[in-house]
Amino acid sequence: MFSLEELSKKISDGSAKVGVIGLGYVGLPLAILMSKRFKVVGFEKSKEIIEQLKNGKSPFTDVTESLLTERLGNTLLLSDNEKDLGDCDFLIICVPTPLDYEKKPDLSYIKTACRSIQTFLKKGQFVILESTSYPGTTEEIMIPLFEKSGLKAGEDFGVAYSPERVDPGNKKFKVENIPKVVGGINETCTEIAAKLYESVLEAKVIRTRDCKTAEAAKIAENIFRDVNIALANELALIFERMGINAWEVIDIACTKPFGFMPFYPGAGVGGHCIPLDPLYLSYQAKKYEFIPRFIELSGEINDFMPIHTINLLIEGLKRVNKKITKSTITIFGIAYKRDVKDTRESPSRIIIEQIISSGGNAKIFDPFAKEIETKYGKYKSEKDAEQAVKNSDAIVIVVDHTIFTEEFLSNLIKTMDEPVIVDCKNVLKEGLKGICEDGIYLGIGKPNHSE
Ligand SMILES: NC(=O)c1ccc[n+]([C@@H]2O[C@H](COP(=O)([O-])OP(=O)(O)OC[C@H]3O[C@@H](n4cnc5c(N)ncnc54)[C@H](O)[C@@H]3O)[C@@H](O)[C@H]2O)c1
Repeated sequence: MFSLEELSKKISDGSAKVGVIGLGYVGLPLAILMSKRFKVVGFEKSKEIIEQLKNGKSPFTDVTESLLTERLGNTLLLSDNEKDLGDCDFLIICVPTPLDYEKKPDLSYIKTACRSIQTFLKKGQFVILESTSYPGTTEEIMIPLFEKSGLKAGEDFGVAYSPERVDPGNKKFKVENIPKVVGGINETCTEIAAKLYESVLEAKVIRTRDCKTAEAAKIAENIFRDVNIALANELALIFERMGINAWEVIDIACTKPFGFMPFYPGAGVGGHCIPLDPLYLSYQAKKYEFIPRFIELSGEINDFMPIHTINLLIEGLKRVNKKITKSTITIFGIAYKRDVKDTRESPSRIIIEQIISSGGNAKIFDPFAKEIETKYGKYKSEKDAEQAVKNSDAIVIVVDHTIFTEEFLSNLIKTMDEPVIVDCKNVLKEGLKGICEDGIYLGIGKPNHSE
């Protein structure tokens, strides 16, 4: 039997032992955070990642190597042997939740993690899922797997869902100062999980009435972003045709102190969350005989943006009597967003593939992401930006990494003959004005047709 008193005491005196399963973008910062107060076992199935971390090498900018090294010699044990999780009081699952080849939720990582836990699960332990999934995952998928052990959820062991809201690369909001949502399978479970997070976080913990409300809140947050980005993209497509600068429109609309929140257009959405999570809810909604048209339409609009980028590139090259075929195009930014190295679901992949399938040559430059996997093989970033633009016919600015300033890009563009620039992030606010006279500039959400 697990008890609120016993686990609360272990939390308050710091004697609780916490296991974190999956040491990726979510799990590693969480393991570091928990190890500030508790003994932590960071369990990761990839031996390569364990080796890298044990050598004090942090793959993520959000976890400094000095902090990792300090915790390693102290409260953090890294392991690829699940037996090391056996005596943990809390087990927090942070494994991936991708889509399968049919674009349906792939819960195989969660199920595998649950099956391993089930082999050693004992009375008094507490399991928390942090991975994003559709409402119902914790109670309908996880609990039946745990209960194969013969133990009863909510009586013999605790279960809660607590979504991770971390935003890799965000300088202001880190895992410790983002409010945390917690929903247990009963009130006691909610309370215990909330106390655990309250003991390490600077931010407040929000208790939900049940697991599925917490699961739904996380999915709603990410769908909100996806839908609003789609709206920004649609407005950009309309305003481009009308000869209106969508970026200026957004800035002006922002001056209204209520009722408007800025979202910006771009070459598409990427990362492990925004393009995927809406499809998790869509999938589940259809089981309830509801077709989520709005959510799916947003996905279609965002998916069109890399194609629109290619259309701008074709148009730009046409204006200097060139075609993609035989042209060399340099992509600035292969990460899915600013100042991170994660290339998962990055729109750059589609842009590169389109260039290659049209007979063009693609070069890339990204100061964070070193390479990207495409259906034509891996594409590696050039070592320096000068090398990347050498002999290029066009540049496509896909990501607004902080170092891609107007000055940085202007200096590179000045070295090119008749350059064609496609700017997906409004980095060059005034286009090529003052940079070069013989170039062509086209931008997403820019008045391209009136130039
Ligand atoms: N990346 C983000 O910004 C972010 C933000 C909020 C929520 N999330 C959600 O958090 C979850 C994890 O995402 P992530 O970006 O950290 O993924 P990730 O791929 O970076 O990390 C997951 C890690 O889990 C490991 N793993 C997989 N199965 C395992 C198992 N059975 N046992 C031990 N280790 C295992 C993988 O090797 C990998 O290192 C996903 O559901 C994601 O949607 C991600």
